[in-house]
Amino acid sequence: MSRPRLKIERPDFGGPFPEHIAVIMDGNGRWAKGRGMLRVFGHKEGIGSVREITTECAKMGVKSLTLYAFSVENWKRPRQEVAFLMELLEQFLVDERPTLMDNNVRLRAIGRIDDLPEAALARLRETEEITAKNDGLLLRLALSYGARAEIADALKRFARDVAAGKVRESEIDDETLRRYLYDATTPDPDLLIRTSGELRISNFLLWQISYSEIYVAKECWPEFRRPQLLAALEDYAKRVRKFGGLVSDTPSASEARA
Ligand code: FPP
Repeated sequence: MSRPRLKIERPDFGGPFPEHIAVIMDGNGRWAKGRGMLRVFGHKEGIGSVREITTECAKMGVKSLTLYAFSVENWKRPRQEVAFLMELLEQFLVDERPTLMDNNVRLRAIGRIDDLPEAALARLRETEEITAKNDGLLLRLALSYGARAEIADALKRFARDVAAGKVRESEIDDETLRRYLYDATTPDPDLLIRTSGELRISNFLLWQISYSEIYVAKECWPEFRRPQLLAALEDYAKRVRKFGGLVSDTPSASEARA
């Protein structure tokens, strides 16, 4: 069966458009508590935002979307909340397959994936496999993810390769280090969005966001839908990216990464 072609309709705000968007999905608990509900209802409602933002990004021709779904620190939350989040993840990985396929989305996970419960890990591998040939949006779920853990894991693998004589210590530079991160091939985020008004990075993609533009939305994640995404994109279109240089020699996002 051939893949349905997706009609790409990119909004034009008269400025740059991000190829890679990363999101710190924050405020699920507050959203629920503000409505007199248990925190877990916020996570459940947050799935609706994950679906809407993923399909919108796919339809707008965004190349990569990285969602911070579960951090290494999140394991410290109450046992019931962690169990709920893991079940939600498992269910998401099955229920969303038709939507991912219809929207030509490829799913990939980054993080200490082996920490996930066996059932969630199995569903994850299946969904990665099912969507592997899609060539539209790359949806990266950060699971059991921490940026410091990622750098530590990269250094361990690098040290092993040095010991095995596969690489020399003198070869280490920005680009060599990138190859040892969880995903060596996806370019850095152009735009980092955080919801719920908090001004923190929370150990997310510390290495990769060096030159990302940051946008903080006041809405909690369950309220972050198409209109809020468009507001972020409109704001991004006004940014002037200099990558440490001057405006006159500003490269385009892809030139800067080349
Ligand atoms: C922050 O809300 C969000 C999370 C801990 C994880 C995000 C999870 C989801 C959107 C649902 C699961 C997603 C997938 C892809 C299965 P918070 O609980 O920290 O909110 P608070 O700051 O208001 O307490």
